[in-house]
Amino acid sequence: MTAAPGAALLSVRDLKVHFPLRRGVASGEGVVKAVDGVSFDVPAGRTVALVGESGCGKSTTAYAVIGLERATGGQILFDGRDITALAGRERAALASDIQIVFQDPSAALNPKMSIADSIAEPLAIAGWKRADRRRRVAELLDRVGLPAAFADRLPNAVSGGQRQRIVIARALALSPRLLILDEPVSALDVSIRSQILNLLMELQRDLDLAYLFISHDLSVVRHIADEAVVLYLGTIAERGAIDALFGAPRHPYTQALLSAIPLPDPVEQRRREKIILTGDLPSPLSPPKGCPFVSRCPIRVDLCGAARPSLSPTKSGTSAACFVRAASEPLPAAA
Ligand SMILES: Nc1ncnc2c1ncn2[C@@H]1O[C@H](COP(=O)(O)OP(=O)(O)OP(=O)(O)O)[C@@H](O)[C@H]1O
Ligand code: SF4
Ligand SMILES: [Mg+2]
Repeated sequence: MTAAPGAALLSVRDLKVHFPLRRGVASGEGVVKAVDGVSFDVPAGRTVALVGESGCGKSTTAYAVIGLERATGGQILFDGRDITALAGRERAALASDIQIVFQDPSAALNPKMSIADSIAEPLAIAGWKRADRRRRVAELLDRVGLPAAFADRLPNAVSGGQRQRIVIARALALSPRLLILDEPVSALDVSIRSQILNLLMELQRDLDLAYLFISHDLSVVRHIADEAVVLYLGTIAERGAIDALFGAPRHPYTQALLSAIPLPDPVEQRRREKIILTGDLPSPLSPPKGCPFVSRCPIRVDLCGAARPSLSPTKSGTSAACFVRAASEPLPAAA
């Protein structure tokens, strides 16, 4: 089955991933709400980025999609099919549709396995014959810009950037439609990053791949993504198309994140409202009451400490969870 152009290939609806924690008799039990009601779509052939500070729930969201973490609530649909609770063989069968690439290619490859065997691993599991596997590995090496002679080498005999190409080749082996990329260039030298990003963009164009792209580097996100979802303490602060989100962010948290990123147009740069983020991220074990951002928000009003804002349209065309900035919601009277 193929998703219609522009239709959601992946649909994440009100996803919750909570981790119960035992913290000893004195302090009792707690719950880490790593992801607490996150919704977004990834259309076929497009890139949606998850951004936000360390610990905001980016990887946990991705792991729930690929089945490495179990959703506590909500739904995950792939091509219209509910995959939230798939396990065993049904979950394994999804490997031909959804694959993940992690940050560190060295950790993802068995140092004792040849590059050809590493790339062919998912094919062997799927029951491909040896000759077909060999042909497919040659095709994949070429696809990711590596010479055929690399097939017999060990991963330690190639550079970090080349190792990430190998990991990408392995992820592509079964022709998936969605790739989850969790900080795929963060462990690489700056000089290599743009080469890998260009490769990813070329592969997306040629193979009509959808990407769920996780990065803390907003310049990279602006370069590669069509849309972005800004997470804060496991919830969405703001979500929207890249131009709207980077051009005129409305949520004070998005504004704070983007204040550090220069705009290409100096006039726009001067006009842009700047917010400096102060204070630490609260613990997800004891998030603030009301708006998750309230303890660090420079524009908060009385209601912010009492009620949680829902995502609503803003005048920039994004959706933001902010009582003050979502244009469709009149500023509520103080509680
Ligand atoms: N298995 C677990 N048990 C308890 N808490 C967890 C578990 N996995 C993640 N967490 C917590 O959930 C929150 C979200 O973690 P997550 O790894 O998703 O963040 P992230 O946005 O990917 O951060 P980073 O940018 O550092 O990779 C963090 O507070 C983390 O400590
Ligand atoms: S709802 Fe209130 S605390 Fe939250 S971001 Fe908006 S103004 Fe700040
Ligand atoms: Mg992470």
